[in-house]
Amino acid sequence: MAKLKVGVLISGRGSNLQALIDACADEDYPAEIVLAISNVPGAAGLARAEAAGIPTVVVDHKAFDDREAFEKVLGEALSAASAELVCLAGFMRLLTEDFVNHWRDRLINIHPSLLPAFRGIHIHERVIEYGTRFSGCTVHFVRPAMDDGPIIIQAVVPVFQDDSPDLLAARVLAQEHRAYPLAVRLIAESRVRVASEHVVIGDFRCEDGAMINPVPE
Ligand code: GRF
Repeated sequence: MAKLKVGVLISGRGSNLQALIDACADEDYPAEIVLAISNVPGAAGLARAEAAGIPTVVVDHKAFDDREAFEKVLGEALSAASAELVCLAGFMRLLTEDFVNHWRDRLINIHPSLLPAFRGIHIHERVIEYGTRFSGCTVHFVRPAMDDGPIIIQAVVPVFQDDSPDLLAARVLAQEHRAYPLAVRLIAESRVRVASEHVVIGDFRCEDGAMINPVPE
């Protein structure tokens, strides 16, 4: 069966891009990355894509007068690569309502908290400051509001009393690297649909007490 063509948008280190690259290296994985775009020239993630033989494009937002002009070039690059699904992976630009609506239910994001708690930035500091006992990550369809949209997968990690933001970030990131490839696989297998702004997953499997839900097969 034809693989789902995925475009990945990054701004930095690209470890989630790497997790997707690694998943795609398995010939049975039902998706392929056709393009990696960074809005930051020299972002470390670009080298990861290049090492994997994935085409890269830099679309520097600073070179544009407004968001619309920036996003027009983003959209053209994604279309030229025939991207069918767009994954935001540490992409640090807010997208306009027009762009988000154009890619509705074909645009996903990973966020390092259990949404809707702790939207925005400096998440791990705020989790520790608040004193929640669990944190985690969320893969969700993107809607115009920041860190909003139907939830596909969440993974949960404990927060320890003596945690630092860096330790917690690393614990969450390890789960991001499991959750994002799993979400893309479920979508590529056409097992994910959005009904009344809720994600419904075919063959949904949930283990009592699992820290990731649904569990990887
Ligand atoms: C991740 O924590 C992701 O959840 C957030 O930004 C970070 C990106 O990390 N949206 P990386 O660039 O994928 O390593």
